[in-house]
Order: sequence, then C-alpha cells, then structure tokens
Amino acid sequence: MNPLLNDAALRASRYLAGLDDRPVHPGADAVARLAELDEPLPEHAQPAAAVLQRLDELGSPATMANAGGRFFGFVVGGALPVSVAANWLATAWDQNSANPAGAPATAAFELTALRWLLELLDLPRDAAGAFVTGTTMGNLCALAAARHAVLERAGWDVEADGLFGAPPVTVVVGEEAHPTLFKALGVLGLGRNRVITVPADGQGRMRAERLPRLAGPSIVCVQAGNVNTGAFDPFSELCEQAHRDGAWVHVDGAFGLWAQAAPALRPLCAGMNEADSWATDAHKWLNVPYDSGLAFVRDANALRAAMSVTAAYLPAPGGVRIPSDFTPELSRRARGVDVWAALSALGREGVAALVERCCAHAHTFARGLRGAGFEVLNEVVLNQVLVRFGDAQTTRNVVAKLQADGTCWCGLTEWQGHVAMRISVSSWATTDADVQRSLAAIVRCAR
Ligand SMILES: Cc1ncc(COP(=O)(O)O)c(C=O)c1O
Repeated sequence: MNPLLNDAALRASRYLAGLDDRPVHPGADAVARLAELDEPLPEHAQPAAAVLQRLDELGSPATMANAGGRFFGFVVGGALPVSVAANWLATAWDQNSANPAGAPATAAFELTALRWLLELLDLPRDAAGAFVTGTTMGNLCALAAARHAVLERAGWDVEADGLFGAPPVTVVVGEEAHPTLFKALGVLGLGRNRVITVPADGQGRMRAERLPRLAGPSIVCVQAGNVNTGAFDPFSELCEQAHRDGAWVHVDGAFGLWAQAAPALRPLCAGMNEADSWATDAHKWLNVPYDSGLAFVRDANALRAAMSVTAAYLPAPGGVRIPSDFTPELSRRARGVDVWAALSALGREGVAALVERCCAHAHTFARGLRGAGFEVLNEVVLNQVLVRFGDAQTTRNVVAKLQADGTCWCGLTEWQGHVAMRISVSSWATTDADVQRSLAAIVRCAR
C-alpha cells in the first residue's frame, strides 16, 4: 500500500467526520495562518508526507464547511461520498480524457453518464453533451453552438471567419439572468451589453408577453431556477414564440434543470425540453465534487462544429464520441466519471429524493421563519428562501451575527430593491436535525 495515499484518505475521512462539530465558517485564526504560505519557493525537495501534513494542518481548518449539512450559502452542493471516492480513483488513473484512443475507460464512463443524464433530465436522447467545469462554461459551450447554428443559417461560418463582418446576432435575456451568462456572451463576442432585456415579474420570471418579435439570427436565453428565488421562466410560451421567429432557445439551468429529475417538481419545467440547448451543474444538485458542469445541445453537429479540434461538420471518425470535440479543452480530466458514480449510486429514485428532500427542507425553513415573524420574500418553489429581518441594516446585522455564530452559513443578497438573507438547500448531507438546529440559530441571531 502507498502510505502517502492512505494518509490522504485518513486525513480526508477525519476532516469530513469532524464537520458536524466545528463552526461552518473557518476560524479567524485559521484564516490568519494562511499568511504562512507567503514563503519562498523551496530550493530543495521535501518529503511528500510532510507536504501533505502541512496542507492538512494549514488548509483544513481554513476551509468553509460546505461539505457538511449546514452550509446554505450561494448554491453549493456537498459532494456525495461515492463521487469523492470515484474522483480519487480517477485522479489516480490520471487519464487525459480528450480522446478514447488515449483514455478508453474514462471515455466509456462519460458516454454512459451522458446517456443516463439525457434520460434522467428528459432531454433529446441524441443531444450532444459536454462535461465542463461549471454552468458558466456550460453556457459558453451551448451559446457557442447557438452562435454557430444561427449564423450558419444566415450563410456565415463563424468558426472560420469570426464575427467581423458577420450578420448581427440578436441576443435576448431575462431581466434576472445570472451574471455569468453575460460573461459567456462577452467571451463569445456577442457582447455583455448588446442584448435585449425582457422584464421579469416579482419572482424573476421572464414575462413571455414582453418577448419582442425577432428577425434574423437570434438567441433567446431563458432560465430554470433563479439564483435568488428559484423561479422558472415560462418555457412553453417563450419557446413557442422564439421558435416561431426562428430563434435558438438556451436554458441556463445551473440547479433548476435537476427539477426535471424529480417528479414532484417536474411541472416547473413544463416546456423546458422544447429548447435547443441547456446548461447545468453537476457540482450543484448532483452533489459531485467541484468542478463539474454540463452542456447539452439538441443539434449535436452545432456543438461539435463550435468545439471540434479536428474537422468541424464531420462525424466523429468511426462514430466514436471524442470528448474534446464537445468541450473548449483538449486535455481534460473525465468529470463524467464522478457523474457516473453519483448516478450509479443514487439511481433515478435517489436523484429525485435528493432534490425533493432539499426542497422540503427549504419549505421547512420558510415555514419556521414566517412562524417566527419574519418576512419570506419569495414564493418557495424550489430550494431557495429569501428572508428579511427588518430594514436593510437589520438584515445585514443578522446575517453577520449568524455567520459569526457558526451553526450554519447563509449569505446576503439584494432582491428587487430589498436586502435579504438567502438560504439555499443543495446538499445530500442536510438532515432534518440540521434544519432545526439552523432555524433555531437564525431565530436566536435575529432576536
Ligand atoms: C442560474 C445560474 N447560472 C449560472 C451559474 C454559474 O454556475 P458556475 O458557478 O457553476 O459556473 C449559477 C451559479 O450559481 C447560477 O445560479
């Protein structure tokens, strides 16, 4: 046995086992100690065991305990043990998963993971998929495919000839689109600001009746799961109107896409699978380790044309899927292995139970906070709860007190002019007891 790898496993197990008994935020002393890293490049070799020991002693106490059950900040899913273990094993394999010729095992696991995901999320079974780092990159891949397709229809080859002189592409976004969508648009040369913005309602849903008529190459970006409220855009109306005008519809579903895998929540997604592309995160609701995002594109050739490093427009040689023909990277780790492990261990029922349990916890938070006299700002349709404890400063003070208390961790946000605390329940590790303990802490800090 390799003592170094055993030591790493032991340290990781000890770390995870200790999460329940430590404050969720890292201690100030532990964070201050990170300054010790500001040291010169070592001149000489050091024993690997000592390097690992230093990493653990300096790093572990300075982490946020988001692998535990009481971290409710941002939208962060704790990694399932099976996906952590699979990730370790695949790291030991150290495959460059660009091409099945060099990495047959990881390519095969990714292929199966992709097939399962399309089935689970009820997306077109022949859609192309990309295993990338997160939804930011998922959006980028899908929008690159969209850019290719809408310009190809206008007789323009954007990969070959770029955007200079190309027919203009109209991009439509909702008023509450996630900021990372604009980053993807900027990187793709479509412009962060060169968009038509459709107003949203009080929950952040695009108002379908305000979608303008579109002509020429057009892309409409819709959203499954608003990062604040969890709200879903009205996909059926938006897809129908956009498709009537020949536009491409892209769904940013960083966490909301997973509602499709949960029967109780599926109605939120009505019409979503009529879109042309979708992006989501496996590190959010599938609870695999960072970083793991996904893009799915109905027109497989459009994604391949946008991303291929070999010959765009040509089928993969021998019909074999070449992972790097669908992703921005050539050399890459096989993120699909972690996805395969999570899906294998959970099964269809397990994914549904995970998503539904998180949403049930969110409802418990909302009920408990309303019962304690606080104002819940959103309709809790998914896993997100927005709560106010009074005016903006009072809410800020409560959140600061709660974060310092360490029982749980929630962040601040601003929702349509109101400062609010945001609770996002996204982890398999959160239990009923975690919710009750956290609720008690929130109420204690707010009173
Ligand atoms: C709706 C939405 N889109 C995109 C993103 C970006 O995802 P990632 O951080 O995985 O790139 C998020 C992150 O929370 C999100 O909620």
